[in-house]
Amino acid sequence: MNMAAAEKPAMAMAGDRAQAQKLEVIIARYMAEAKDVMLLELRDARGRALPAFEPGAHVEVSLPNGLTRQYSLLNDCRETDRYVLAVGKAADSRGGSACVHESLTQGAPLQISAPRNNFPLDAAAQSYLFIAGGIGITPIMSMIRWCAANQRPWRLVYAARNRQRAALYEEIQSLGGERVQWHFDDEQGGYLQVADLVQNLAEGEQIYCCGPQALMEAVQDAAATHPPGVAHFEWFSAPKTDAPPAAAGTFEIRLERSGLSFSVPPDKSILEVLEENGFSLPFSCREGTCRTCETGVCAGSPEHFDYVLSSEERAAGKSMMICVSRSVDPVLCLDL
Ligand code: FES
Repeated sequence: MNMAAAEKPAMAMAGDRAQAQKLEVIIARYMAEAKDVMLLELRDARGRALPAFEPGAHVEVSLPNGLTRQYSLLNDCRETDRYVLAVGKAADSRGGSACVHESLTQGAPLQISAPRNNFPLDAAAQSYLFIAGGIGITPIMSMIRWCAANQRPWRLVYAARNRQRAALYEEIQSLGGERVQWHFDDEQGGYLQVADLVQNLAEGEQIYCCGPQALMEAVQDAAATHPPGVAHFEWFSAPKTDAPPAAAGTFEIRLERSGLSFSVPPDKSILEVLEENGFSLPFSCREGTCRTCETGVCAGSPEHFDYVLSSEERAAGKSMMICVSRSVDPVLCLDL
């Protein structure tokens, strides 16, 4: 098979898919929200309405240094004239948050994706316990606004290193009042303890958690006794796991549209194999947390190692994250 000729449709399709999602916006407001937290209000560059979003949704921002980063939308999801983000400056920034804090300016253009949601709120829950750590408040904020607008019972536990770093403090206080439990490490002499909080839920209450890895893992451990579907997480990076990161064994991928086939060895991901063979496919986290590399499955059973698909989506087996997931079957056919 002439690989160079056969590759083009698949590569063009991937590019088109990424391109179709791009929105041209301007930074209409750029201001310090808390210590080491910048708030950005984005508006369509031509003044048009922006695509709708759901509580918990994020956009991918193409930064001027060439990096792409995902940031949650924290404003009211009924608003169509703006997206609001807050970005914490990471001490160990790999270039994303440093660029937002040091290189962006009010009025500058930006390219972003349309909103996507890997952290959907179950509207049928009887009540909601939100647990946020630091800048993890951002997806929770749009959920709180939804609860407030729909008169749904909620409570929030918000942990930060100190008051100066608690983004959106005044707004949360005025929205939530006594529904909000604040935890400041410096005032309370250590990290938030979550075991009692997580284990003593009201009937029908669901947990939504976003924050630093240690907090998320503590909540995940404490929630292990609850049935599936009670605790929900927005992972910034892959959580700890006792399971191996990927199944051992080689399998074959067949690409439905291009007609190509490749072997995926145990030490490489499907995405890496495709990249080595000239494909330019969308990706961001490369660890199963962002959904950017989601690819359709035409035949065969994927073995999922991501952190974003729901149990229903996994069972359906219609798509997979090719940066981490593998194949149960010797041959897997992908929609590429
Ligand atoms: S690149 Fe993020 S899930 Fe695959």
